Amino acid sequence: MSAGKNFLVTGGAGFIGSAVCRHLVSSVGANVTNVDKLTYAGNLASLKPVENAHNYRFAQADVCDDTSILKLLKRDDIDVIMHLAAESHVDRSIDGPAAFIETNIVGTYRLLNAALEYWRQLSGEKKQRFRFHHVSTDEVFGDLPFDSGFFTEETPYAPSSPYSASKAASDHLVRAWHETYGLPVVLSNCSNNYGPYHFPEKLIPLVILNALEEKPLAVYGQGTNVRDWLFVEDHARALVSIATKGRVGESYNVGGNAERRNLSVVEAICDLLDGKKPRQGGKSYRDLITFVADRPGHDRRYAIDTAKIQRELGWEPTETFETGLGRTVDWYLANQWWWGPIRGESYAGERLGRSPEAAE
Ligand SMILES: NC(=O)c1ccc[n+]([C@@H]2O[C@H](COP(=O)([O-])OP(=O)(O)OC[C@H]3O[C@@H](n4cnc5c(N)ncnc54)[C@H](O)[C@@H]3O)[C@@H](O)[C@H]2O)c1
Repeated sequence: MSAGKNFLVTGGAGFIGSAVCRHLVSSVGANVTNVDKLTYAGNLASLKPVENAHNYRFAQADVCDDTSILKLLKRDDIDVIMHLAAESHVDRSIDGPAAFIETNIVGTYRLLNAALEYWRQLSGEKKQRFRFHHVSTDEVFGDLPFDSGFFTEETPYAPSSPYSASKAASDHLVRAWHETYGLPVVLSNCSNNYGPYHFPEKLIPLVILNALEEKPLAVYGQGTNVRDWLFVEDHARALVSIATKGRVGESYNVGGNAERRNLSVVEAICDLLDGKKPRQGGKSYRDLITFVADRPGHDRRYAIDTAKIQRELGWEPTETFETGLGRTVDWYLANQWWWGPIRGESYAGERLGRSPEAAE
């Protein structure tokens, strides 16, 4: 690894952040400081496999609190910041954009401030090797018509939702801190992730768990929207590669080369469950599928050209959509200890109780 060994991961109690922490701690052998505010989306149970490791520590903090972040950067002698903390759910951003502006834009700004102050007092090789890796989404590129090419790193930004607009704003801030102040940054824009420890309000875990409870499987519109799906552990490997070997000032698109219509995703889950946990009376889980009014501003298609990360960093996904989805269904069948408490709380709470729509 060309960068140093001490990583600070923001949002490490979330879906992708926890996969990054598990990978860094167990496979890379790096020292990891996980900084997370523990919002509804943060869950320390996702860190169970590494929580007692000598090279892992957790700090509960808000990325907007630059004083606390600066202290952690100094205390743990950080070499690489991987910034994943965010409000991440598009539907929530439509209902209440304020938290998205606060965490995704203001929070990134404050984190950049802390990083810059920290980086400026470093010297020599330590200063040269320091990296700020900003983790973003392909949704910043906006709506891609069907059959019309792929997002590349040069695609102009055209975000449609409050979520993607807030992520686009944060990407611009990160680039500006590089251009203006010289902070050594790298960025990545990734397609839809899925896999173990995924909060059960997102499409794939929601469909698996609703199906197991024989609930309606709600699909937006006609289910024709296309997403490019990436297994989360493949994304975690890509992110560590970008953070440690990516060229300073560059961005990298990350995708699974697995475009699927939303309806096909739901049908594939139903078919897997038909085999692994058949319903009574020989019925198919597909019978539970129902169509609901489309999400406002719903982008038709996202699809990623991964040529740059393949060429420069030698990364490519190891899971196909079929193998990754099979692993994901198996994981949810075997790990009710993880999702059971969240499902219980969420359904008693305000959002998931009244809004059964499946959001990707
Ligand atoms: N999920 C995807 O498919 C996907 C795809 C591309 C990019 N991304 C990006 O990857 C990152 C991680 O996504 P995810 O799906 O793991 O999200 P997530 O919602 O599962 O996790 C976000 C984490 O950030 C924490 N957090 C929120 N606000 C915070 C704050 N103010 N201070 C500190 N911590 C805070 C939460 O507690 C949670 O643990 C996000 O930046 C997201 O935009 C996600």
